[in-house]
Amino acid sequence: MALKMGFLLLMMPMLVTQWVVCVEGGSNTNNVYQPCTDVKIQRSDGFTFGIAFSSKVSFFYNQNQSLQLSPCDHRLSLPSSNSQLALFRPKVDEISLLTINTSTFFPDNYGGYMVAFAGRKYAARSPPAFVANGSYIVTSFTLVLEFQKGRLQNLYWKRDGCASCNGNSNFVCLNKQDCAIKVSSCKGRGGSVDCSLGIQLAFSGTDKHLSVLNSWYEVENMRQYSLYGLYSNLKDSLTSQFNKFF
Ligand SMILES: *[C@@H]1O[C@H](CO)[C@@H](O)[C@H](O)[C@H]1NC(C)=O
Ligand SMILES: *[C@@H]1O[C@H](CO)[C@@H](O)[C@H](O)[C@H]1NC(C)=O
Ligand SMILES: *[C@@H]1O[C@H](CO)[C@@H](O)[C@H](O)[C@H]1NC(C)=O
Repeated sequence: MALKMGFLLLMMPMLVTQWVVCVEGGSNTNNVYQPCTDVKIQRSDGFTFGIAFSSKVSFFYNQNQSLQLSPCDHRLSLPSSNSQLALFRPKVDEISLLTINTSTFFPDNYGGYMVAFAGRKYAARSPPAFVANGSYIVTSFTLVLEFQKGRLQNLYWKRDGCASCNGNSNFVCLNKQDCAIKVSSCKGRGGSVDCSLGIQLAFSGTDKHLSVLNSWYEVENMRQYSLYGLYSNLKDSLTSQFNKFF
């Protein structure tokens, strides 16, 4: 079942910017621009996926939260709940940094959790990740997209157990896994920090020609925030505020 139109209209493209590090040769052969459609990709293709923001419970089909469905599945009725959708189209196997500007979009107003997803019959979705509540916001994420023979198999959030913020008083370590900032420190919420979200992407597995996707290997060998340093624009807005870190 494709996303209902109403849900797509909720999309706020202005929230979203996408930065790509290395632009290699090779051209796109994937003409699917809709996240709820199955595709088989090869290296150098663009790949469309979505991130839905909503409450944790709204990503589950049952009360006890044992059955998580893809946001593409109409049984979740996400379009009629308090949710937001952001769409991205990174190039496969390029390390990308996606940003979602939170100057007018407060994730805690939309349930505070996010799920990355793509596909229909072969629907893949990440576990819900905590983004924000009234007290804290997590601003840095790494999302791994795992493909097998070009088909998306799995999406998951890679965590570093707060290694990147240990000992820094600007951050609080939540649940021993997420570095969070106090919402009261954020611009528009009484503070001065730009609390926009940064999501680093990494690709792993194989494409449809069985070529190995290895941007995952590269990300694993980077410090968590190092990618931000590659983007001069973002560096000013996202990193200089915690300069001693980078
Ligand atoms: C959760 O609910 C499902 C049915 O909706 C049931 O099959 C399952 O045993 C329940 N799990 C727990 C841990 O209660
Ligand atoms: C978010 O948008 C505000 C207002 O347009 C801008 O000042 C800020 O630099 C943006 N932040 C990022 C990380 O792009
Ligand atoms: C936000 O989440 C943190 C960590 O789970 C919790 O300690 C805090 O009480 C929550 N704040 C609100 C306002 O829900």
